[in-house]
Amino acid sequence: MSEPLNILFVGDIVGGVGRRALLALLPTLRERYSPRFLIANAENAAGGVGITPAIAKDLFAAGVDVITLGNHTYRHREVYAYLDEEDRIVRPANFLKSQPGHGSCVVERDGMRLGVLSLSGNLFMNAARAAFPEADAAVYALEGKVDHLLVDMHAEATSEKVGMGWYLDGRATAVVGTHTHVATADARVLPGGTAYVTDVGMTGPRGGVIGVRRELALEALATRMPVKFETASEDPWLNAVVITATEPMRASAIQQVLEPAPT
Ligand SMILES: [Fe+2]
Ligand SMILES: [Fe+2]
Repeated sequence: MSEPLNILFVGDIVGGVGRRALLALLPTLRERYSPRFLIANAENAAGGVGITPAIAKDLFAAGVDVITLGNHTYRHREVYAYLDEEDRIVRPANFLKSQPGHGSCVVERDGMRLGVLSLSGNLFMNAARAAFPEADAAVYALEGKVDHLLVDMHAEATSEKVGMGWYLDGRATAVVGTHTHVATADARVLPGGTAYVTDVGMTGPRGGVIGVRRELALEALATRMPVKFETASEDPWLNAVVITATEPMRASAIQQVLEPAPT
């Protein structure tokens, strides 16, 4: 058994309010969990949708090791070239090969190599290729090149996320779900040793509707008419998970971190 290692994975960062929540809580989280690696889904980091190179660089400067994305990857044109240039930002691997960016990366710290793989679900999502065969291909490609593998399964349907957890059980250190912005209460280590949660939740304004100002979301829901959405700011929280790993490619624990940002 090797020395336990913690990986902190932060759920979808929504807008400046989410970024500030993460930055404000990070010193406490570092002290409490001493994470060797910090991974964050930042597909909503720029004003609620997408990401820009400047925001990605700020997150890296704050100590984020790897940024994962999702269906909002291509919202800002200025990020396209950056997605090809920067190794440590990943978009779903099962997008088309011709689309900007790449689906996995490897980071190393203190002799430990962590692979991070981004996947998108296919149900109610716009990923061009199938998630499950892509997971097989990526796991195969990373074999022998990493000590641990974290998979961000960005999907709408709980069934696909639960399925991916079982599919990769014993082949990845963790499979964590993102995209719905609502944390689920099913975090556990599966029998094969893979830490799993259906959705990590959102790092952003809990006072809105999954990140959108609630008056605007409610107007759209009630009237069924188009409404221009703005990002909410009320009641920012951080939603994350800490995965503890001891053996290579195996987790021994996963715990949720659901914290209000300090006021
Ligand atoms: Fe998403
Ligand atoms: Fe999201």
